[in-house]
Amino acid sequence: MVPPGSSSHYFDADPGARSDRRLVELVLPDLSLRLETDSGVFARDAVDTGTKLLLLDGPEPQPGDRTLVDLGSGYGPIACALAVRNPTATVWAVDVNARARELCDANAHRAGLDNVRVVEPGAFPPDLVVDRLWSNPPIRIGKPALRDLLTRWLGRLGPAGSAHLVVQRHLGADSLHRWLNEAGWRVERRGSKKAFRLLDVTPGGEEPRR
Ligand SMILES: C[S@@+](CC[C@H](N)C(=O)[O-])C[C@H]1O[C@@H](n2cnc3c(N)ncnc32)[C@H](O)[C@@H]1O
Repeated sequence: MVPPGSSSHYFDADPGARSDRRLVELVLPDLSLRLETDSGVFARDAVDTGTKLLLLDGPEPQPGDRTLVDLGSGYGPIACALAVRNPTATVWAVDVNARARELCDANAHRAGLDNVRVVEPGAFPPDLVVDRLWSNPPIRIGKPALRDLLTRWLGRLGPAGSAHLVVQRHLGADSLHRWLNEAGWRVERRGSKKAFRLLDVTPGGEEPRR
């Protein structure tokens, strides 16, 4: 439990807030999923608008993809949608929050998705090359931590790999875009809707996949 006077965040390893599970719907043109959420996880009352935009406007599945990552999976809306859309790929759902990981794992099982692997960040196989990384990243962990996180995970992309991020404009999407460029990544703005930016990131020189 959270002691009086302290607060818990959706990115805590063990949120501690009293459990209060509920179901939310993820409805997209090509799929519909019921997902269980809980207090202490991001977007517990409804699938986040930015997450939904990313899933609506992000890139089409690539038939050759084998390894996909949902960085900061929460209860799994992105990971589960990717697993439906990429049945021959493995989707690694990575999160620091133990409650979110448990929900994500249960949501994938309930949906009959056996190609989702839910892991804490340190349990991701260090030598695995990532084809596609998707993320509604944890902006609220702060700029230095976020930059460090993205540097580590973007570094796992293969030469033809790409990352697809959704970031709110008022939470620093444009400065993140500039910083990624300065750090040597090629970044294209795929879209800008409802105060969100969708960013395609590739390891310098590659055209992002459409
Ligand atoms: C903005 S939420 C997105 C959650 C989910 N993908 C969604 O769209 O609903 C970001 C997630 O990143 C997770 N997170 C924070 N720091 C992390 C880290 N160092 N490694 C992996 N995940 C992290 C948080 O626990 C949170 O679940």
